[in-house]
Amino acid sequence: MDRNSSPTMLLLRIRRRLQLLLLLSAMATTKATATSSSSGHASYERALVAFKAKISSQSGVLASWNKSTSYCSWEGVTCGKRHRWRLVALDLSFQGLAGTISPAIGTLTFLQSLNLSFNGLQGEIPPSVGSLGRLQSIDLSVNMLTGGIPSNISRCSSLSVMIIASNKGLQGSIPATIGNMPSLVVFELPNNSFTGTIPSSFGNLSQLTDLSLALNYLEGSIPAGIGNNPYLWFIQLSFNNLSGLLPPL
Ligand SMILES: *[C@@H]1O[C@H](CO)[C@@H](O)[C@H](O)[C@H]1NC(C)=O
Ligand SMILES: *[C@@H]1O[C@H](CO)[C@@H](O)[C@H](O)[C@H]1NC(C)=O
Ligand SMILES: *[C@@H]1O[C@H](CO)[C@@H](O)[C@H](O)[C@H]1NC(C)=O
Ligand SMILES: *[C@@H]1O[C@H](CO)[C@@H](O)[C@H](O)[C@H]1NC(C)=O
Ligand SMILES: *[C@@H]1O[C@H](CO)[C@@H](O)[C@H](O)[C@H]1NC(C)=O
Ligand SMILES: *[C@@H]1O[C@H](CO)[C@@H](O)[C@H](O)[C@H]1NC(C)=O
Repeated sequence: MDRNSSPTMLLLRIRRRLQLLLLLSAMATTKATATSSSSGHASYERALVAFKAKISSQSGVLASWNKSTSYCSWEGVTCGKRHRWRLVALDLSFQGLAGTISPAIGTLTFLQSLNLSFNGLQGEIPPSVGSLGRLQSIDLSVNMLTGGIPSNISRCSSLSVMIIASNKGLQGSIPATIGNMPSLVVFELPNNSFTGTIPSSFGNLSQLTDLSLALNYLEGSIPAGIGNNPYLWFIQLSFNNLSGLLPPL
């Protein structure tokens, strides 16, 4: 059957309203904990050096990642305003990065925002991302990642924006544990190769405003609970193999 003409194809575009600015504006306000700054300093530098080691194309932005300066001044790295050694954001989007994502990323414990979108990264999303308890935003869109979404990403209890679009090698089912992430506001996984059903636990994502699972190979029905969420502005499920009725919104 032609997927384009399938009666089960759904496109419901209610309204797109990303709240990124709002979310990222909270970046400078981390809770104080009693970590020694010197140990934090050394371990974050080590993690970034390990990250760089897995990148095969180091000619661009990563050339500035050298010991002549503090890691806080390395390109793409943002440290905290109050606790200046705390690495709070890593934005390496559009940097032509090839290679894989080092599991060492999981040791950047103060990271609030990770953006590796629009590169040529391969390999899997390291399950160690589940250690990033302060992560608020992750964007891994438009790479060549493979494997599945690690189910323990649901341990990122501060995560409000998860965008992983256009990695055609990402497959398997979408972890049901994602339904246990009460802070999730924007959840977009379009144009990958996910299979299986939409977990019924997604009906528990009570803060969700944006949901896109378009252009995958999902099947089964749309969980009724999704319709109970009053904040949902944008839902896009087109180009899948879904069946049944759209729950009343
Ligand atoms: C080290 O980084 C600085 C910028 O932080 C850059 O000017 C310099 O060229 C880099 N050194 C090497 C050897 O790449
Ligand atoms: C990641 O970076 C890209 C390119 O700069 C940008 O378009 C996108 O909005 C960023 N993602 C998030 C979640 O902020
Ligand atoms: C995530 O789960 C994998 C496999 O279940 C495990 O090896 C890894 O240690 C977990 N990572 C974290 C950060 O919990
Ligand atoms: C889907 O992803 C592929 C591979 O990244 C890309 O070439 C294609 O343009 C994407 N399609 C859409 C509709 O974004
Ligand atoms: C939704 O959350 C409630 C309360 O935590 C739990 O009892 C229920 O099993 C969850 N539903 C799904 C489908 O996971
Ligand atoms: C869609 O689902 C139907 C029945 O559930 C199945 O017969 C069909 O092969 C599926 N199509 C695709 C493209 O997966």
